[in-house]
Amino acid sequence: MAKSKTIFACQQCGHQSPKWLGRCPDCGGWNTLSEEIQERSPINEFTGAWGISEGVSPRPLVELQGEEGERHATGIGELDRILGGGLVPGSLILIGGDPGIGKSTLLLQAMDRIAAQGVPVLYVTGEESSRQVKLRADRLDVSSPHLFIVSETALDRVLEAIRKIQPKVVVVDSVQTLFVPDLSSAPGSVSQVRESAGRLMALAKTEGTTIFLVGHVTKDGSIAGPRVLEHMVDTVLYFEGGGGHAYRIIRAVKNRFGSSNEIGVFEMRDRGLVEVANPSELFLAERSSGVSGSTVVATLEGTRPLLVEIQALVGTTVFGTPRRTTLGVDHNKVSLLVAVLEKRAGLQLMGHDVFVNVVGGVELNEPAIDLAITLAVASSFLDRPIDSNTIILGEVGLGGEVRAIQQISIRLKEAERLGFKRCLLPESNRKKLDVSTSMTLEGISSVDQALRLALETKKAVGRNTSKVVSEKGLPSPIPSPQRGEG
Ligand code: TYD
Ligand code: MG
Repeated sequence: MAKSKTIFACQQCGHQSPKWLGRCPDCGGWNTLSEEIQERSPINEFTGAWGISEGVSPRPLVELQGEEGERHATGIGELDRILGGGLVPGSLILIGGDPGIGKSTLLLQAMDRIAAQGVPVLYVTGEESSRQVKLRADRLDVSSPHLFIVSETALDRVLEAIRKIQPKVVVVDSVQTLFVPDLSSAPGSVSQVRESAGRLMALAKTEGTTIFLVGHVTKDGSIAGPRVLEHMVDTVLYFEGGGGHAYRIIRAVKNRFGSSNEIGVFEMRDRGLVEVANPSELFLAERSSGVSGSTVVATLEGTRPLLVEIQALVGTTVFGTPRRTTLGVDHNKVSLLVAVLEKRAGLQLMGHDVFVNVVGGVELNEPAIDLAITLAVASSFLDRPIDSNTIILGEVGLGGEVRAIQQISIRLKEAERLGFKRCLLPESNRKKLDVSTSMTLEGISSVDQALRLALETKKAVGRNTSKVVSEKGLPSPIPSPQRGEG
């Protein structure tokens, strides 16, 4: 027997070092290295080879049969869409998310639907007892006789159960509870997680079984033993939302069999997760009109357009440095857009706290939302609302210019469907537009111009209007209130 060798592995990122280090040179985590016995590479339980092995004779790629078309629909439309149209046989799918967000619930519901089609399915629970799962299953009306459950954490016995039942789909809840007895480290450590996932992957690839791995999320939001796993699996899904919201958004951050960044929207009810077919309607449902600091943007998540409200609140700074607090959008992006407003539109925001929130717990990070954020901030600062039937699209550059965005026609269609009447969009997009729409389109080329077109005058003229400075004899970038009873 080969002599065992010890190594030090980072419990956050999997980096290995021959000696102990206080700080991981790879991910920069402090005190994350711990001693482990060096593991072997994953040995395929079925072929006896290491990793995936199909023999050594190479074949021309054109002669191979593609496996597209063999997808198994789960019966949950939103889950199928994020997977790219159903489960691909032999794929390994990692699902991450905060505790209690609904990972086990969703998988149990999905497995029941699959099993109802007569396909044998195995649910391995390492966190809860079979009885606990049964209680949840009753609540979710799980009734298929083809759904099997086993409460087990030793990988060997899990594999044995898989051999016995020959399921087409397996759920492992969670991968951090699995352990391989020949490794000395504790369950949940990088070596254990990697070894378990590696053996399961070998099984998935050779037997054509689809395997879901549930992964826990650490405090900083990554799956424990994370990067190692993300590289190995075919698809990575993350739950977003939660935190008091009823909505749960599942995002495909990686997908070898579909487009990434695709999202599925669910609502947590008393009988499990229910699909939300029209998320835009849901996100805009409670919008109040005539309030300053609110804009609506059509964002694209994967292939799906989604209308979301962006809210901003600008208030006077009480202590020293102004705060820039954001929820759902990048903090740096907001700081940058505030700087553009100061420099290019003359709004003096330096003595003000700025808060920006994306309603509904969605996280947005595409450039097309820049103009909507910028206008929301300006609207709140000047206390002048933006017409609630207007949709705002555009990327903002540091020069205050508004740049073209991608896939404008899908976004316009969604806005039109939800009854929006007017759209401010980049001028360069408007010029090249090849779809007709009933909305009034206004091409924008600068932030300044957008402010002039978008901001309405409020009944009682906003108290902040005087803060707009017009330097060097230039006309005020914001028109003075004229309309209505002004
Ligand atoms: P769970 O799936 O156990 O979360 P995870 O596996 O991600 O840790 O979700 C449990 C939460 O969902 C719990 O807070 C209760 C709630 N829930 C409902 O609101 N309705 C339901 O029908 C079920 C089964 C759970
Ligand atoms: Mg769970």
